[in-house]
Amino acid sequence: MKSFFGSPASLLRRWPGVEHMPRLYDRSTRRSEMGLVKLRRMLLAEVSGAVLEMGVGTGNNLPYYSQAASVVAFDLDPRNVRYAAAKPESGGARLLAANAQFLPFGTAQFDQVVATLMLCSVPSQAATLTEVRRVLRPGGRLHLIEHTLTGMPAVDWLLNQADRPWQWATGGCHLNRDTAAALREAGWSLLKHRRYSGGFMNVIVAQPEP
Ligand SMILES: C[S@@+](CC[C@H](N)C(=O)[O-])C[C@H]1O[C@@H](n2cnc3c(N)ncnc32)[C@H](O)[C@@H]1O
Repeated sequence: MKSFFGSPASLLRRWPGVEHMPRLYDRSTRRSEMGLVKLRRMLLAEVSGAVLEMGVGTGNNLPYYSQAASVVAFDLDPRNVRYAAAKPESGGARLLAANAQFLPFGTAQFDQVVATLMLCSVPSQAATLTEVRRVLRPGGRLHLIEHTLTGMPAVDWLLNQADRPWQWATGGCHLNRDTAAALREAGWSLLKHRRYSGGFMNVIVAQPEP
C-alpha cells in the first residue's frame, strides 16, 4: 500500500520520535508534567551561579530557575531549541544546539549542570558524564531528574520488554537504564538520591570524586 507520503514502511523508518517533535512532546506530556513540576521546582531551587542545562527539550525547566542562576541551555535537536526559545517563559536563558557527548564549552566553566529526563536518551551516559566532569568547576554539582529501572523484578521485566518500542516511539529514550549505577561507575559521589513513583523517578545530586 502506497500513499502520497510513501509506503507505511518508509513512514515508520522516517518517524523521528516524539522527543524530536516539540509541539507533540508538550501535548503528550501534559499529564505527566503535572506530577513532575514539583520535582523540577525542588531540584532547581538548589541551583545558582553559572548553570549549564543539557537536553533542554521544550524548555520545561526554564521557568523554575531563580534569579541567582545564569543559564546556558542546549539540546541536540535544533527544532527543540527553536521551540523552547520562542516560549516567553524561557526567560533569560541562552539557548543553543549542541551534543552532550562533545560539549562546546571550556574546562571548568560551570558551577552547576542540570539534566532532566535526558540521561535516558543520550547514546552514551559514560561519554556524557566525562564531558560534564570536564566543564564543572571544582566543587560543582550535577542535578538530575531521571527515570530508571526500579529494583522491582516484575516492573523491571516490563521496562526491559518495552524498551525497544519505546526507543522507537520517543526517538531514543531508554526505559531500562540504571543512572545511579552509571554515576558510581564513572566515579561520582551521590550526595542525594530520592526515589519517587515506586522507584521509577529519581532525583539525584552528584559530584565528581577527586
Ligand atoms: C525526554 S526529552 C527531555 C526534555 C527536557 N529536559 C524535559 O525535562 O522535559 C530528552 C531530550 O534530550 C535531548 N538529547 C538526547 N541526546 C542528547 C545529546 N546527546 N545531547 C543533547 N541533547 C540530547 C533530546 O533531543 C530531548 O530533547
